[in-house]
Amino acid sequence: MKKQFHINLFIYSRGHHEASWRHPASSPRALTDIHHYVDCAQKAEAACFDSVFLADTLAAPKDVDRASRIWLEPLTTLGALALATERIGLIATASTSYTEPFNLARQLASLDHVSGGRIGWNIVTTFSIPASRNFGASARASHSDRYERGEEFVEVAKALWDSWSDDAIADDREAGLYARLDRIRSINHEGAHFQVAGPLNIPRCPQGRPVLVQAGSSNAGMDFAARHGEAIFTAHATKEGAASFYSDQKSRVAAAGRNKDQALVLPGFSPMIASTEAEAKRMERELNELADPEIGRMKLSDRFDGEDLSHLPLDKPLSCEDFPDASLNEGTRSRVELILKIVREQRPTLRQLLGKLAGARGHFVMAGTPEQVADTMEDWVDSGAADGFNLMPPLLPLMLDVFAEEVVPILQRRGRFRTTYQGSTLRDHYGLHRPNIAQQ
Ligand SMILES: Cc1cc2nc3c(=O)[nH]c(=O)nc-3n(C[C@H](O)[C@H](O)[C@H](O)COP(=O)(O)O)c2cc1C
Repeated sequence: MKKQFHINLFIYSRGHHEASWRHPASSPRALTDIHHYVDCAQKAEAACFDSVFLADTLAAPKDVDRASRIWLEPLTTLGALALATERIGLIATASTSYTEPFNLARQLASLDHVSGGRIGWNIVTTFSIPASRNFGASARASHSDRYERGEEFVEVAKALWDSWSDDAIADDREAGLYARLDRIRSINHEGAHFQVAGPLNIPRCPQGRPVLVQAGSSNAGMDFAARHGEAIFTAHATKEGAASFYSDQKSRVAAAGRNKDQALVLPGFSPMIASTEAEAKRMERELNELADPEIGRMKLSDRFDGEDLSHLPLDKPLSCEDFPDASLNEGTRSRVELILKIVREQRPTLRQLLGKLAGARGHFVMAGTPEQVADTMEDWVDSGAADGFNLMPPLLPLMLDVFAEEVVPILQRRGRFRTTYQGSTLRDHYGLHRPNIAQQ
């Protein structure tokens, strides 16, 4: 049997293209209008997607005057989406650097109850320097310190979710017994970053634990994903890059003593789709022309920890010497490695590089017909580069509509994608086991 895909919808602004918010075909709604999210989530559910996914940052974007990276806070948004949908999984990003495990474990467990078992947590350590200034820190913690705190954070969260057995609630009115104390445990965690007594103040959630999603692809990020990630989001500009990541990540999952099938690798995928390739490419060009290269230059500078790139001419081929060393990067190290790979292999001008990044920030971008898009997806999965995709429509909701109406039926006809939901939880859609509690 052919391998079936998993598909998430990554909802972001009015689309993932940097200029999508200005394009006449993108959503007319305000970016703070919950109906924008509800509309996208319901369309994704009608097309049987595994989940919707929301990213997050913890600082106002400094280019907010000319870019549109504004969104509703993800956990509260998922609360609304949980009641506006029935089957689709709901994944929110939340940081391990700027909250406490007890707060977040409780919020995610509550959402899992609210949604009937459809919640996933995209675990990030937050690379943003301005974010650190919003939480009392004079400087951002280093890449390795953030991952070290993230590791302890996740261990504590897991222990808290496991602190109630599935049968802890008796709710026996006759006997006057609400909960069985012997089925609820303290965790008494004493670590370098957290001291947490537990138990959690909410019973075990429908999925046991929310699905753990991970999205950092540096060496440290991949090891973290190997231990904890049940779905792994990642960015690759080429199929070859994605395939090499896939095999490395799966080996690390196995080396960590886990089943490779219990850690899905889902790269970002941003297709512009039209009935002819020429029309799709025209739309792509039209959007690229709306993007402001100086905004792109500012974002690129942020990727390189604020390095001043103002001296780089727009139309001269770049070389890696124009940028600081990736191994010294303290932010999104894997994305910086990806950008330098493009520079090394393709020698683009800065304008060309910014054009490539404007589409989906370094994730794979293509423009083609529905058949070409479906062929590409099959090729990636069959080449061992992906278990499915994090769909990043360049324009929302237009390119979601086209994908759902034109590409999904092709994938379904080819036996690659479900035609109805088989289960009711995100774990069901992803084929993930429900975690057991060791002490039970
Ligand atoms: C699909 C995808 C989505 C991401 N979403 C977020 C996000 O919402 N917030 C965030 O702080 N980082 C996000 N990241 C970045 C990573 O979580 C990570 O912090 C960053 O890449 C640095 O870690 P690394 O050096 O291990 O890659 C995302 C990465 C990917 C691939």
